[in-house]
Amino acid sequence: MSERCDDICPRPDRPPAMPNQPLVVPPYLTSVWCCESTEQAEQILSGELEGFVYQRDAHPNAAMLADKCRQLHRADAAVMTSSGMSALAALLLSQTTQGDHLVVSNRLYGRSQVLLLQEAARLGITATLVDTCDLRETAAALTPRTRLLITETIANPTLEVADLAALAELARTVEAALLVDNTFATPALCRPLEWGAELVMESVSKMMNGHSDVMLGLACGRESRWERVAQVVATWGLASSPFDCFLSSRGLATMHLRMERACDNALQAARWLARHPGVAGVLYPGLESHPQHALAGRQLGGRYGSMVTFHLPGGRLQADAFIRAARQIPFCPSLGEVSTTLSHPQSTSHRSLTERQREALGILGGTIRLSVGCESAEHVLGALAEAFDHLPDAAWTRRA
Ligand SMILES: Cc1ncc(COP(=O)(O)O)c(C=O)c1O
Repeated sequence: MSERCDDICPRPDRPPAMPNQPLVVPPYLTSVWCCESTEQAEQILSGELEGFVYQRDAHPNAAMLADKCRQLHRADAAVMTSSGMSALAALLLSQTTQGDHLVVSNRLYGRSQVLLLQEAARLGITATLVDTCDLRETAAALTPRTRLLITETIANPTLEVADLAALAELARTVEAALLVDNTFATPALCRPLEWGAELVMESVSKMMNGHSDVMLGLACGRESRWERVAQVVATWGLASSPFDCFLSSRGLATMHLRMERACDNALQAARWLARHPGVAGVLYPGLESHPQHALAGRQLGGRYGSMVTFHLPGGRLQADAFIRAARQIPFCPSLGEVSTTLSHPQSTSHRSLTERQREALGILGGTIRLSVGCESAEHVLGALAEAFDHLPDAAWTRRA
């Protein structure tokens, strides 16, 4: 009897017999895996046998990418998560419980602050905001209940560089772990675990993937802090998608090359901007004027990152005019793309802060944050020059 469509169409596929392996591991777009027996299912689910059963627990694309990231960070363990935010959530939930305390950098990415201050507070976890570049202030905030000291390697958008070794030592005095958001540096520039941090997170959505087509996070760290991480990721549903891991494996293959070019371009752009009469100030760790220039030189391996922040003297109005005039530099409030983009922290990433809080951090209406890409340096400088040339009523033009 010939089979009916109803029976053929829904039948699970089997891959054809293959004597060899593809060079590129494809995305495993399956939510579930078939098991040979109840015994095998139990063995895989208990971790006794290597394998996969359900995508939320583990899948090959995440396992391969996490292992590469673990090696890049010289970590004992690593896990991919659905976004940078879920990597931070996984580390928070795995390390803390009601009654615990956090010490949090006041320069942290805005949404990270919301998680660590507002959301954590609902779970009975308190937090103190500090300037982690001020070691005295940081030390004074630590208590016997502090579990995590949290900072970024390079802060957004003001680009202060945290002294990771000193912060790790401070955290150890109360048996807390230093947790570093390394998104602006990537493991191409800095491996925080080697400076004494015990936990690291990255928004892989940014430079690590590098192509603005993925949402993905990485958490990695020391074995001694890892006991609960996998359970938290699976149970709170923070897992990554196979397709995003697949794309990020491709992105990661060129991370070191992209970062090298982007950092070289950023240094040239920062120097160019520092000389420009229409710029009121430039923040870049590679400039000798940067307060942590020497520390950055040691901690970032001789490069200084792909982010450059500068101030326009004419405030928000001039920032708007600059954004319109910068025809070759798209305004998009993210970072880490292959092309140069710009953002305006006051109206985007730091919108939820009060004017006063923003001013205290040095974020003004005229502050522009550049994410420098991998074009030629000539292109990047040309695109900046074009923007300044097209600014109406530019003060330096009137002076000339
Ligand atoms: C420094 C930093 N950390 C964490 C995040 C959050 O990452 P994601 O957007 O992948 O959740 C961002 C996002 O902009 C970021 O800039």
